[in-house]
Amino acid sequence: MVRIAILASGTGTNAARLISHFRSDARGEVVLIGCDRPGAGVMQRAWDLGVPSYLFNGTMLQRGVVQAELRRFGCDLVVLAGFLRLVPSDLVRDYAGRMVNIHPALLPKYGGKGMYGDHVHRAVLAAGDTKSGITIHLVDEEYDEGRHLLQVPCPVLPGDTPATLASRIHELEHEHYPQVVAQLVDQLGR
Ligand code: GAR
Repeated sequence: MVRIAILASGTGTNAARLISHFRSDARGEVVLIGCDRPGAGVMQRAWDLGVPSYLFNGTMLQRGVVQAELRRFGCDLVVLAGFLRLVPSDLVRDYAGRMVNIHPALLPKYGGKGMYGDHVHRAVLAAGDTKSGITIHLVDEEYDEGRHLLQVPCPVLPGDTPATLASRIHELEHEHYPQVVAQLVDQLGR
């Protein structure tokens, strides 16, 4: 059984989907939720779903405290689900090929530092793009630059606001992220 950690900074809808997916898929289990924002919704979700959670700040992340916690929990795979910090190089190296991220746009467009959540959707709308989508990719030492595992497009509709576009993108994320993570779990479990 592959032990999965999720790192998240936000409301945690993707984290909740992943947790529930692996409650009926015995190949993996979400054993830890790490969060860098006190009061983030994902902490409440972890509590409600009975998954151990761990709160840390940027200094702890830089000093290897998170890395030690992931080791302590025996985590084989790290899933970033709305995690807004750059992952330090030594942690990326520890989990090379075993750390995955989801981005709410079709990378390489609208990626990089500061490009997250509604900032991305606002930029897509301001550019007048007629499509957006999701990118699921392995994590390397740069923001949003690792090897793509899956991209799924969706239309940008006339009258879309950041909220309506975000909701369409979230639906895609909830459908595809557990599937892609399950494929990685399958590869790691062999
Ligand atoms: C998701 O849309 C995810 O793609 C995005 O944050 C949202 C988190 O939602 N991630 C980024 O923008 C990373 N650059 P959630 O907290 O409801 O899962």
